[in-house]
Amino acid sequence: MKIITTIAEMQKEMTALKAQGHTVGYVPTMGFLHEGHMSLMKTARPQNDILVLSIFVNPLQFGPTEDLDAYPRDFDRDHKTAEAEGVDFIFYPSAEEMYPQEASNKVTVQQRTNVLCGKSRPGHFDGVATVLVKLFNIIQPDRAYFGLKDAQQVAVVEGLIKDFNFPIELVPVNTIREDDGLAKSSRNVYLSKEERAQAPELNKGLQLAKATIESGERNPQNIVRLINKHITDHCDAEVDYIEIYSYPELKKLETLSGKIIIALAVRFSKARLIDNIILEIE
Ligand code: PAJ
Repeated sequence: MKIITTIAEMQKEMTALKAQGHTVGYVPTMGFLHEGHMSLMKTARPQNDILVLSIFVNPLQFGPTEDLDAYPRDFDRDHKTAEAEGVDFIFYPSAEEMYPQEASNKVTVQQRTNVLCGKSRPGHFDGVATVLVKLFNIIQPDRAYFGLKDAQQVAVVEGLIKDFNFPIELVPVNTIREDDGLAKSSRNVYLSKEERAQAPELNKGLQLAKATIESGERNPQNIVRLINKHITDHCDAEVDYIEIYSYPELKKLETLSGKIIIALAVRFSKARLIDNIILEIE
């Protein structure tokens, strides 16, 4: 496994491998790897000749009051994890390498961002899209792997790949959870003991909604109310949003039908957690 920190070297390696006809699978991350990231690597490994992992905590996607400096980092551990998952290259650039001067351009995401995390984190998806355009051009992957835990990110990346004609297949990967149902996240380390015990109620609220829809409920507002009550009854936390949309278009629904996403974000004292489920309704 090779660790590469410069854009020039990464591009040179990838261009040479692609010229030899190798397929490249790519897993973009911000590091502090856990089983969620590992499942992206496990999915990608057998589907590609070369597996590239990037670790870059992208300042552009953090708001002024968000946790950029406090974002957890542990490169030595990530290095070992990547090695064990059969990664061929880790791309690990510094912020100066990625953003050496004030940029003349940035990507503005026009659709799918005025809802969910896009609404509560203005500019976040512009930052994600901008760094991904750079990373896609540097790594030139055939396939890119993204987790459905961040389902809005998957929807935004789908639009980015389509609009800008990247010759990349987007591969969505299901959310990996703890045994008690809490979605794995680098931010879970910020939860206090009490909050950690309450956090599985987010997923339980979503499962309750699923069961209620399966027994015939089709009114989105009733489902939102149900989840809100479940979370506020069981968690000492502030609900940021609970919303239901068509997926991946993220359009408002009067009645529940087709492919939908139920997504939520909840603020505990030091961590904002997100979760979602995607359902196909007859
Ligand atoms: P990061 O939060 O490190 O996540 C990297 C990838 O891991 C994302 O595709 C995310 O959806 C996936 N992931 C995280 N937790 C998961 C879980 N429990 N189950 C399945 N997949 C999970 O997302 C980002 O980084 C950044 O926005 C990035 C795309 C790297 C751009 O900077």
